[in-house]
Amino acid sequence: MADQYARTGDDTRPTETPAIRWEEPPEGPVVVLLDQTRLPAEEVELVCTDASTLVEAIRSLAVRGAPLLGIAGAYGVALAAARGFAVEEAAEALAGARPTAVNLSVGVRRAQGAHRAELGRTGDQKLAAGAALAAARALHREDAEASARMAEHGLALLDELLPGGGHRVLTHCNTGALVSGGEGTAFAVALAAHRVGRLRRLWVDETRPLLQGARLTAYEAARNGMAYTLLTDNAAGSLFAAGEVDAVLVGADRIAADGSVANKVGTYPLAVLARYHHVPFIVVAPVTTVDPDTPDGASIEVEQRAGHEVTEITAPQVPVAGAEAGGGIAVAPLGTQAYNPAFDVTPPELVTAIVTEEGAVSPVTAGALAELCGRSRQVTI
Ligand code: MRU
Repeated sequence: MADQYARTGDDTRPTETPAIRWEEPPEGPVVVLLDQTRLPAEEVELVCTDASTLVEAIRSLAVRGAPLLGIAGAYGVALAAARGFAVEEAAEALAGARPTAVNLSVGVRRAQGAHRAELGRTGDQKLAAGAALAAARALHREDAEASARMAEHGLALLDELLPGGGHRVLTHCNTGALVSGGEGTAFAVALAAHRVGRLRRLWVDETRPLLQGARLTAYEAARNGMAYTLLTDNAAGSLFAAGEVDAVLVGADRIAADGSVANKVGTYPLAVLARYHHVPFIVVAPVTTVDPDTPDGASIEVEQRAGHEVTEITAPQVPVAGAEAGGGIAVAPLGTQAYNPAFDVTPPELVTAIVTEEGAVSPVTAGALAELCGRSRQVTI
């Protein structure tokens, strides 16, 4: 079920439609998502009345980005509980909807854990559903707070690395309010720099094949009045060579214990370019993205997506139909095989710093990362 909004992509006001929210209309609780596959053309909301609709929204990237996936997963468990569905089954389906962003399973397990604990304590389904919802709301609120703190720490680091301001920052994929309870991760740092007059330019990688940069980051940058320029991913090399990039800011979907960073495919080549050109490469992510159970980059499962995302181009306005076909315009001969990993892994030695809400780690080592994350894990259930 989807509601149409009157606003269009030409509207340059900051968006007021939250990426996700929980509502309790008389017909029963729902999770409402801003459908990111329709942006920037229109703001359409998807109303999820069960966990399987939410699983589908996660797979189709209607809701996406690591921190938001965690929040969506937690609300999904709360939704299953509130509507009397099988909570354990829903939790498994939600946690497995996408494999790389560890936040998804962290969010799901948090709400599931709260549900189980309350059910075990009281045996009362209603109280258990309330506990799952409280856990989801807490995660949502904490993510907003973490986002503000990442922006502070990230801006301080930028100013330290690049004294004098006038930062020209390159970013990849989408890491703003659309992926967060707050203003995001890497994008929130660029936004903070913009607000204090220290962002000269935001270079936005279009982020093939699904164009999260062109469709979503450019949309958020425009709405915030930032000076931004869109480039194709393969134009980044000549941009570095021309001396036009002062820093790279990206998010992460999973950070292994050794500091290896999985993020949107195309991130690793940027890290290589940044090293060659002596440009700081900064990863901004909440501590929930650091996975102590994944020892290194080779252990990170990289999601492989359908080939039609590469062999076809789909306009956001066109609803995609069909199981095998993407429903888009073919740009390759019929039957062409495509290599379509959704993420790549950047080794820690190419990362100048990892910025979290607890502060920054630089150089990136397993010990320093564990110490930093240990601080917040002591207080998070
Ligand atoms: O496939 P997506 O669009 O969910 O990928 C998102 C990214 O790769 C982001 O860079 C990452 O989740 C960090 S968002 C703070």
